[in-house]
Amino acid sequence: MQQQLSELGQVSAVIGAQWGDEGKGKIIDLLTEEFDVVARACGGANAGHTIVVGGKKHVFRLLPSGCLHDGKTIVLGSGMVIHVPTLLEELDLLEQAGITLRDRLWISHEAHIVFDYHKEIDGVMEDRRSAQKGEGIGTTRRGIGPAYMDKAERTGVRMERLGTDLSAHLRDRAESVRHAYGVEIDVAKEAQQIADAHVRIGSRITDTVELLHRLRSEDHRIIVEGAQATMLDLDHGTYPYVTSSFTTVAGALQGLGLPPFALDSCIGVAKAYCTRVGSGDFLTEVHGDTADRLRERGGEYGSVTKRPRRCGWLHIPDLQRSSRINGYTYWNITKLDVLDEEEVIPVGIAEKNGKAVYKEFAGWKTSTAGMTDFDALPKEAQALIGFIEEQTDIPVRFLGTGQGREEMILKD
Ligand code: GDP
Ligand code: IMO
Ligand code: MG
Repeated sequence: MQQQLSELGQVSAVIGAQWGDEGKGKIIDLLTEEFDVVARACGGANAGHTIVVGGKKHVFRLLPSGCLHDGKTIVLGSGMVIHVPTLLEELDLLEQAGITLRDRLWISHEAHIVFDYHKEIDGVMEDRRSAQKGEGIGTTRRGIGPAYMDKAERTGVRMERLGTDLSAHLRDRAESVRHAYGVEIDVAKEAQQIADAHVRIGSRITDTVELLHRLRSEDHRIIVEGAQATMLDLDHGTYPYVTSSFTTVAGALQGLGLPPFALDSCIGVAKAYCTRVGSGDFLTEVHGDTADRLRERGGEYGSVTKRPRRCGWLHIPDLQRSSRINGYTYWNITKLDVLDEEEVIPVGIAEKNGKAVYKEFAGWKTSTAGMTDFDALPKEAQALIGFIEEQTDIPVRFLGTGQGREEMILKD
């Protein structure tokens, strides 16, 4: 399969088209074999990218999902917010599994640090929203919003300061944080965590913009791993039920300091149905038995928070909007196999009076699990894929039929 992917060009991006958890990790893992560099651009440990290799499950939060491939350069870009103890934990876990990447990992000096107090503020803000409005945003409580708030307020701390004593800065912040949120900053603990981290990863912090441009000029192939997804984007998502970063391809390029024309291709990732974690509108959401069936078959439980994901049907207008914003070259439609038992598969095609208008597709009622040949798929499944292509005017190049690395159709 690999030789056939030269069409993706030198720099390619993988972007979530829905509300996250589309299966970005899996395609990144698959594509990384063909690329030299894998780079995350934005977000933090709110991401949970699961990949399954040889029956073994790996969950990536801050590190990109391409890490399992030997010898690839790993970049954590400027747009990220990094909780350093979580990063160290992730590195330790991989090391225990025999994967060492400290000498091929580069962390942007411009990325911001998520402190424990950001996580606490995230929790306090969620609880306040729940108390006042009956529901919160449903954040992952990983401190993402508060870390980006500090960044925008120009009080954030960037990774370049890992080797310095942050006690004075933290003491300065303590007063206003206590006043606004009732959160106490444990200055000694936070400063110590940063000092410990410096010993371990201080030498891996660099100007990743310069690094990426050098690698690009040396003809290395770069794959950009999007995190979160288009409908969670701070500008273009379902505000205010969104994350605090820019999750589109434009956001990813900004987060890495790459110019738009550097990008040769962009793969949009969408499930053959739809899920959402957290609050906010979900026009095609289903409840009851159907939701339970999709959730169980799709293993739809958050990889970060273990929350059951809300489930529903594909909504074509969302895919159309997402593809306008990101300019996808190809689709990766994932989890086709999850629909194997459905009698009828509704697909949202419009909205009328606040309700979804559906076109119903016949189910195929047979297993597609693990299939790798598009022509061998039941004709009903082929029809569904054909409809997505026709409605979005974007070819489905990759089609997921299972969790495993090999369970993917490469469609002509
Ligand atoms: P990400 O955040 O976009 O990387 O997605 P997650 O890893 O959070 O969630 C996607 C889940 O679906 C993971 O458990 C994957 O192993 C799984 N998955 C990905 N592609 C497929 C597929 O084609 N079929 C099935 N059954 N599972 C898949
Ligand atoms: P990946 O990369 C799914 C959602 C949260 C919440 C909202 C805000 O695995 O696809 P935050 O903690 O970011 O402030 O939460 O965004 N969210 C995600 N949902 N997948 C993700 O990442 C998500 N990252 C954030 O559930 O609704
Ligand atoms: Mg996820």
